Amino acid sequence: MYKKKKIFVTGAMGFIGMNWCKKLLENNYFVYGLDLKKQKIKHKNFIYYQDTVFNYSLVNKIIKKSDMVCHFAGIAEPMKYLTKTSEVIDLTINPSINIINECSKHKKKIYFTSTSEVYGNLKKKKFNEKDDRLLGSTIYSRWCYSTAKALAEHYIIAKAKEKKLDYIIFRLFNVYGSNLKGRVVDNFIEKALKNQNLQINGNGKQTRCFLYIEDCMDAFFKIFSKKISREIFNIGEDKEITILNFAKKIISLTKSKSKIVVNSKQLSKFKGYQDILKRVPDVTKLKKMTNWKPRFTLDHGLRATIEKITK
Ligand SMILES: NC(=O)c1ccc[n+]([C@@H]2O[C@H](COP(=O)([O-])OP(=O)(O)OC[C@H]3O[C@@H](n4cnc5c(N)ncnc54)[C@H](O)[C@@H]3O)[C@@H](O)[C@H]2O)c1
Repeated sequence: MYKKKKIFVTGAMGFIGMNWCKKLLENNYFVYGLDLKKQKIKHKNFIYYQDTVFNYSLVNKIIKKSDMVCHFAGIAEPMKYLTKTSEVIDLTINPSINIINECSKHKKKIYFTSTSEVYGNLKKKKFNEKDDRLLGSTIYSRWCYSTAKALAEHYIIAKAKEKKLDYIIFRLFNVYGSNLKGRVVDNFIEKALKNQNLQINGNGKQTRCFLYIEDCMDAFFKIFSKKISREIFNIGEDKEITILNFAKKIISLTKSKSKIVVNSKQLSKFKGYQDILKRVPDVTKLKKMTNWKPRFTLDHGLRATIEKITK
């Protein structure tokens, strides 16, 4: 008899996690979700645990009864790398080590959300999955997240070698949409809707590449359903925009009266802050192996996001 595959998603009520749970449920998977937050998905094929990934006995029980694990719980808000550094390191490393060990022991495939931050300040046009990492000194706490995610990646790859752990690592590059919290996209939109100043760290010439959540879910699902093994994928859009132009775009799309303030001291007042000037993903591997390409332009994705926020 056909049995639904059971997928365990940590961080299930987060921005990426919730969208992924919905995608899995739409595609007839059975989902166990775990997060600190209140349950926001009700579905006959969804069982929810409002708990922490530090509750190892619960987490390990759920891993045992699942077919695969998507470990997405984390802290991805840049301000917290500076204000809650040890918490970011603890959460990114310790529960991940436990989950990776359990996945190795019970032969469960793990999908892990890593970050474009692992490349740090690499001086290259586009970042390839095999590229070096270029990070600042440990006195700059902003690198704590990059380092912790990279350590979890190392641990996964080590277990794959030693114990034949099956894995996929997603390195995400500024994924956005509604329900995102604590990132530049929601920050600018919320401020613009209230006609408040948009604060930019530095001169605004630093660039980012933004990927709409639906394109991200499409990439995840393409990788997931192709049953690709033991790979790292950059997941992102390779079109760059300066933060200054991005702020202008948000003001125009929201028809806001906000002003742009460059060289804001918002983050630089923290001793541990260093900015990343450029980060563009090389998505050749993702495109070649899955036929993925983004369907949504930045304008389309931002309009949809703004519409959902204002509804
Ligand atoms: N959105 C992006 O562009 C982006 C970029 C790089 C990496 N990531 C990674 O993707 C994952 C999801 O990020 P997101 O953007 O959805 O952020 P998010 O903050 O919306 O989601 C993270 C979720 O983890 C949960 N969580 C935190 N601590 C927990 C704990 N102790 N136990 C259980 N759950 C806990 C939070 O409650 C939250 O719902 C994270 O691992 C993040 O590092 C995201």
